[in-house]
Amino acid sequence: MEPFEPFRKDLLSGKTTIITGGGTGLGRSMALRMAALGAKVGIVGRRPAPLEETVAAMRKTGGQGAFAPADIREPEAVARAVDALESELGPANQLINNAAGNFLAASEDLSPNAFNSVVQIVLYGSFHCTRELGRRLIERQQTGEILSIVTSYAQTGSAFVLPSAVAKAGVLAMTRSLAVEWAAYGIRLNAVAPGPFPTEGAFSRLMPGSEMEKQARRRIPSRRFGEHWELTNLVAYLMSDASPYQTGDLVTIDGAEALFSGQQFAGFAHLDRAAAKELMASLKPKR
Ligand code: COA
Repeated sequence: MEPFEPFRKDLLSGKTTIITGGGTGLGRSMALRMAALGAKVGIVGRRPAPLEETVAAMRKTGGQGAFAPADIREPEAVARAVDALESELGPANQLINNAAGNFLAASEDLSPNAFNSVVQIVLYGSFHCTRELGRRLIERQQTGEILSIVTSYAQTGSAFVLPSAVAKAGVLAMTRSLAVEWAAYGIRLNAVAPGPFPTEGAFSRLMPGSEMEKQARRRIPSRRFGEHWELTNLVAYLMSDASPYQTGDLVTIDGAEALFSGQQFAGFAHLDRAAAKELMASLKPKR
């Protein structure tokens, strides 16, 4: 599908946005899109090379960007990274908690350290970053926006990704708690739950082989995976001053995948429609 451009070029001017995991995957796409819409974007991640490349790509199209390598599991490293980004870009007023860790595993086989690694990145990392920006905003009497990328199973749980499910549920609870607690400071917090959007990081870990990919597509009533521009349009809107009353929300963007899984007769949506109608008509009592 062709990307659709609904926004003014300066939609995000005045925003200085920190994006964790901003060097690769959806984080990179969000960074490029937000920079193109006038935000100054500071990206954080563990590996310098993709961060550097993403900042170069932002600058190539006239955007303003900076990077700071950090492991968000360490609160002191988060503080140092925000200091470094602010010294280059000025005071930050936005954060996207995007960095994540995940893998498929039977839960009985998880080592305590495996559980810990994912929960430390997703839940503790999001808390450390949210706390760091929140404290600075409150201290400076600045308003701001914080967005967390979660997943539809943050609400339901999911088999075989237990550490991620537990951590994402926690991030959602944090979003909803702080939306209320920090509304008085003019800080908005929202969460977005994407369905499958192809990225190297997620698909290499969660989509083993083309058969799984085919099955995954069959669970999506829209019959396709998401495209990055579809997510970045939603994120740009939520992070902009076009949505000042939206806070504490969870917005799902998944082609109705999550609803499909919970609906008993959803399978009919995948039959040829004429065949489905014929089947349903055959069950209608004759008069
Ligand atoms: N199945 C079971 N256990 C696993 C695992 C897997 N696929 N991958 C890692 N682990 C375990 C390791 O064995 C280790 O436990 P142990 O010390 O008891 O053996 C523990 O997890 C930590 O692994 P390590 O590789 O040292 O951790 P890390 O902190 O470098 O990496 C991960 C963190 C495991 C989350 C890694 O997958 C990662 O860096 N992911 C980031 C990117 C990502 O996941 N993106 C997708 C988002 S959807």
